[in-house]
Amino acid sequence: MIPQPIFAWPLVGSQVLIFGTTAFALVAAPRDLADGERWSRSMASLWRVLALIVVVMSPLRLLSVGAGMADSTFREVIPVMPQIMRETFAGRVWTWRLATALLLALVAWIPAPGRLATALIFAISAALLALQSVTSHAIDKGAFAISVHFAHQAAAGMWIGALVSLLIGATYGHAGADWLRSATSRVSTIAGWSVAALIVTGAIRAWDTLGLHLDLLVNSLYGRTLLWKVGTAATVILIGGYNRYRLVGSIGESSARATLVRNVAVECVLLAVVLGWSVVLANTPPPH
Ligand code: HEM
Repeated sequence: MIPQPIFAWPLVGSQVLIFGTTAFALVAAPRDLADGERWSRSMASLWRVLALIVVVMSPLRLLSVGAGMADSTFREVIPVMPQIMRETFAGRVWTWRLATALLLALVAWIPAPGRLATALIFAISAALLALQSVTSHAIDKGAFAISVHFAHQAAAGMWIGALVSLLIGATYGHAGADWLRSATSRVSTIAGWSVAALIVTGAIRAWDTLGLHLDLLVNSLYGRTLLWKVGTAATVILIGGYNRYRLVGSIGESSARATLVRNVAVECVLLAVVLGWSVVLANTPPPH
């Protein structure tokens, strides 16, 4: 059987990234500068690719969930999928997810007026995060845990989305020093708040699962995966702190700008690894 995270990682990653980058485009991107137009075009291409990944990976992920439920292979589970989708809660949520993924692809690919389309893509990706939260481990703990799970994913999206937006402006968008200076201070603020929200919501979700049994952090697969995840996230936070307190202030110098862009690229790669740990965690049975 194919491991669940193989389908979950690109799907979760694309959903949070499309959510975070559209949020950045709507509320934080410097629009009054000439480079803003080029940046917007690069972002629209990114959203098309991400929407395509979501629409292709969603049915594959659904099949892998179905195969997991029925303890069978992909081929064996296909004939029973209609029954799983009709008769299980997860199946019914997935029906909505597939329809929402299709809508996302339609809105991202049909040429439409800029800001309206961006707002629609943002709203649809938020719906996808909410539907994902409803079928996460949080479902066992009730509505509050589901809301916290949603907020955790949204904060992850805001952080990664802000960093990727900056990186695209600095590389594909060929943005000049003015755009970078303006975007960098906004990215830095968003990153600070997102990290705070991630730590609080992540700690609540971990508490829900592990409680005061700190021994489970080393004595269970779930706990060890969580430790790897937090360790990788802490490395990104350290790099982000260095950027914020050492480099953002000297953004006027081209050497500081080059180092900043390189560090942001490293942060993005490490956050992709954190997302990998997250989906492994979400697919690891919590310890009892
Ligand atoms: C800093 C401390 C963090 C802690 C303690 C933490 C903890 C958790 C926990 C316990 C879950 C629930 C897993 C489950 O469903 O059983 C989770 C899910 C998740 N985390 Fe974190 N997390 C942290 C940071 C981050 C960061 C930095 C990111 C990415 C930028 C991130 C992204 C996610 C995502 C996307 C999920 C949902 C995965 C899914 O449902 O497939 N987390 N986290």
